[in-house]
Amino acid sequence: MNCTIAVIAGDGIGPEVIGPARETLAAVAARFGHSFGFRELEAGGAAWDRYGDTLPPGTVEAARECAALLLGALGGPAWDNLPGGQRPERALLTLRKELGVFANLRPAVLLPQLRAACPLKAFAERGSFDILIVRELTGGIYFGERGRGEGGSNAYDTMSYSVHEIERLLRVAFEAAARRQKKLTVVDKANVLESSRLWREVTERVKKEYPAVSCDFFYVDNAAMQLIRSPSQFDVIATSNMFGDILSDEASVLTGSIGMLPSASLGSGGFGIYEPIHGSAPDIAGQNKANPLGTILSAAMLLRYSLGLESEGRAVEEAVTAALEAGFRTVDIAGDAANDKILGAKEMGRAVIEFISRRSEGEGATAGRGR
Ligand code: IPM
Ligand code: MG
Repeated sequence: MNCTIAVIAGDGIGPEVIGPARETLAAVAARFGHSFGFRELEAGGAAWDRYGDTLPPGTVEAARECAALLLGALGGPAWDNLPGGQRPERALLTLRKELGVFANLRPAVLLPQLRAACPLKAFAERGSFDILIVRELTGGIYFGERGRGEGGSNAYDTMSYSVHEIERLLRVAFEAAARRQKKLTVVDKANVLESSRLWREVTERVKKEYPAVSCDFFYVDNAAMQLIRSPSQFDVIATSNMFGDILSDEASVLTGSIGMLPSASLGSGGFGIYEPIHGSAPDIAGQNKANPLGTILSAAMLLRYSLGLESEGRAVEEAVTAALEAGFRTVDIAGDAANDKILGAKEMGRAVIEFISRRSEGEGATAGRGR
């Protein structure tokens, strides 16, 4: 396959996690005989510093011309108070909205190799979970009307969902559940919020089209608690933009570290945005300490969802598992002092690439059941 992938490295540790992910894609191309070109684009704080604009004109259009967009992280305290109300995070939200990627898939899988890094006692030696959070990404309170009242005496943000927005997100979630363990949990706050009550009504209707999938509802406060109490009860979780943001950070740390979690943001075509769920981590930026695996696993999702290269995606996931199996760890996932070999971001990337170039297809455990 011959295609171009847009890349935005972004701020903080962004470039340190994007580098290894790009090299991983290049290694996949070499092993499987593809040709991937990269189109570097800029957004966020780095773009502000260079152009005085967190989303330079033409960025969205340039990304749209590519097969997919791979993104590191945007934002940081240096750009919190920019003139004109610009924010790197706003650039990210505009990219998501303009590129129409309404369904954000965030798989949280506890790999057996990382049990020692799981903060849950009961999972430290055995047990596993494999959760797919399907987060609505282009609506809800992130995009509703907001503002300040007269004289700044109050402020408001609005959570609004249309039937169309809920329905298309639920279809992605039901279809994912149908391919997995056939269990969908819709997370909301229907005991308080009208928009959540609409989510329930739409779910009741859409679920009739997926009779093989069992479907239940959790309030978000209970879901947050159940994730800690017993994460293995979940298969697919479908939820709104903000609840999904919060629950995916919570779920990620159960896998050992937020640095492990990839994401794929999809729309109605093949294009997708692929980014780790972590932020720009300015406290460790520039120190080669970041965990590139969340971004490398995002690249695996890119291969699978935007390029339709299933075996290539699996090869990347297997290489990650193999690197972990060999004891390689970045500091955030260190847990077993006797056996861990601590690596920097670059070296971890090289370890994964080594396994991609070396391993033959179909061997070993994969890092999750996928979408
Ligand atoms: C995420 C991040 C973003 C979000 C921020 C940076 C705007 O937390 O991707 O989870 O809230 O969506
Ligand atoms: Mg978040």
